[in-house]
Parts: sequence; C-alpha cells; structure tokens
Amino acid sequence: MKTPVQITVTGAAGQISYVLLSRLVAGDLLGDDQPIALRLLEIPEALGVVRGVNMELIDYASPLLEDVIISSDPEVAFKDADLAFLVGARPRGPGMERQDLLQMNADIFSVQGKAIDAAAKRSVKVLVVGNPANTNALIALRNAPGISPRNFTAMTRLDHNRAVSQLAQKCGRTTRDIRQVAVWGNHSTTQHPDLCHALVDGKPALDWVGRDWYENDFIPTVQKRGAEVIQARGKSSAASAANAAIGHMRDWVLGTPPDDWTSMAVHSDGSYGIEPGVMCSFPVRVRDGDYAIVQGLEIDAFTQERIKATETELMIERDMVRHLLG
Ligand code: NAI
Repeated sequence: MKTPVQITVTGAAGQISYVLLSRLVAGDLLGDDQPIALRLLEIPEALGVVRGVNMELIDYASPLLEDVIISSDPEVAFKDADLAFLVGARPRGPGMERQDLLQMNADIFSVQGKAIDAAAKRSVKVLVVGNPANTNALIALRNAPGISPRNFTAMTRLDHNRAVSQLAQKCGRTTRDIRQVAVWGNHSTTQHPDLCHALVDGKPALDWVGRDWYENDFIPTVQKRGAEVIQARGKSSAASAANAAIGHMRDWVLGTPPDDWTSMAVHSDGSYGIEPGVMCSFPVRVRDGDYAIVQGLEIDAFTQERIKATETELMIERDMVRHLLG
C-alpha cells in the first residue's frame, strides 16, 4: 500500500468543502489506489459541524481514507501537509466594503501562511480558493518565506471551466473538443477569458464563434457567471468550485494533457509584461509536478488592454494589504 498523501482542507464546515471532501475520499484527486490522510481546519464555532462532516466521510467506508484530524489550530492542520486547499474565508457581509473584506481575509491568510511555513512539508502545494483568492494567496506566500512562492497558487480554474463550457455549448460540441482556453488576471469580474488561441475540434475558436459573440457575449458571461449562480441559487457556486479545485490540484500533481494547458493564478515572473510578484492567472502547462507559464503567445491590442485592467486591480489589492506582505 502507498504512503498516504497528507491533505489539509480549511473551511471544512463550509459548502465547497462539503463537496470537496467527498470527492477526495472517493479518490477523484489522485486515483483509487492512493490513500489519503485529512487535516481539517475550522474556526472553533464550526468544529461541531466538521465532526458531523467527518461522520459522513467515515460512512463512505472508503478504503482510501486512513486518518482524519480536526483542529482550529493552523499549525496542527498544516502539519506535514503535501497538499493544502485553503477554502475557508470570511464572506462579504452587509455593508462591508471590498477593503474590509480584503483586510479581514488578509489577517486569516497571514496567520495561515505562517503556519504553513512552520508546519507543512517544504514541497507542499497550496491552492487558495477563498476570496479574494489571488491576494489571499499572495499574503500566504509572503508569510511563508521558507517555502518557494512557486508552491502557492490561487484558483481561476472555475473561470477556465466556465469558459470551456460556454464555448463548447456555442459550438454544439462537448468540452472534450476544446483546447487552449486561457484566463488571465484576477478571479473577479476584471478577469480576461481569452479565446484568441483556443481551438475547437482543432480549428481556431474565433472562426467558429466570431468576434462579436466573443467580445459582447462570451466574455461578460464568464466574468459574471459567479454572480448569476448566486442570483439563481441564493448561494455561491459550491459543487463546480469543488470540482475546479480538484481539477486544478490534479493537473498540478499529475500534469496537464500534452496537447492542452490550463489556467492557474501563479506568482508572476514578469511574463507578458505583468507586474512581477502579483498572483496573476496565466495559461500554464504542468510537467513532473511543476508548472510553466505558456510562453510566446501573440497578444493583440484588445487582449493587452483587458490584461492591463485586471493586472491593475491586482496591484491595487496588493497595495491595500502591503503591511501584511512581510
Ligand atoms: P462557506 O461560508 O460555506 O464556508 C467557509 C468556511 O470557512 C466557513 O465554514 C467558515 O467558518 C470557515 N472559515 C472562516 N474563517 C476561517 C479560518 N480562519 N480558518 C478556517 N476556516 C475558516 O463558503 P464557501 O461557499 O465554502 O466558499 C469558501 C470561499 O471560496 C469563499 O471565500 C468564496 O468566495 C470562495 N470561492 C472561490 C471561488 C474561486 O473560483 N476561487 C469559487 C467559489 C467560491
């Protein structure tokens, strides 16, 4: 039997984690021959709910689940973590400004960054899902100086998946026929879902759908999809978010398909002129557990302008939490 992979999930009582944990226990991340051990982090008030979730995980009778530890102490929760899903965050309350939300979550992610630094494996792969995800990831990594910034990513995979599905539907194809969609920037309404390099059935996506649909329908639909789900469901995306988190981490560990890439928010190295050091979504390929930003894509003036707008938002968010960046 293989050694269990140590997986930390924060916000374990929340709605995304409820789906994420069930998918992990079912073997959807690393396959049905890879045992896992879970460490679940929650605030003290929600530990009772996590115990209930754990009863359900036990009731799966999954042969993969070797151990579960529940804690409200980040250092316990991140101990020896190989993989960490940072899902827990404070939602925006009534009358709260974006700055308040940033500040409140900034505190959570600086504490968790320090705990990761103190307790996790040096090779840990951290995926930040909790919003504002890009800036939270930046805070976590800047508070974990003993771990490479390359080990921290934020989730734009849900935006990527939304873009893939919208395109497939428009073309009357399945998502299997879609390649090379890219999402740039922040996981917010300034994100830029880019079809300039996308292929449908091997042919340029823009030849299938035309520029008008791309610019005036597709882009705003993907950008506002999260709000649309909240409007319809009364709650934010949960199953699709958990599915995206699984997809992001699986690709990061096992690699992207040879003829495709995915979108991840990673520590900018200045590629495509984007401010170094912000956590920006790029098209990336993964080999041997390591990602590389796809290089050499031609960026037209329209795309350049959209990328600039989302990069500017990332820089503004970074400047709002500068005091926590170490
Ligand atoms: P939820 O409100 O159902 O669950 C969040 C959980 O986090 C709660 O149980 C809460 O007690 C816990 N929490 C709060 N502070 C914590 C701390 N310091 N340590 C550990 N746990 C803590 O929210 P849901 O729907 O599960 O969403 C979680 C986050 O994911 C939200 O910030 C949401 O905006 C974000 N999200 C991100 C997406 C993305 O694409 N990046 C997509 C959808 C949601």
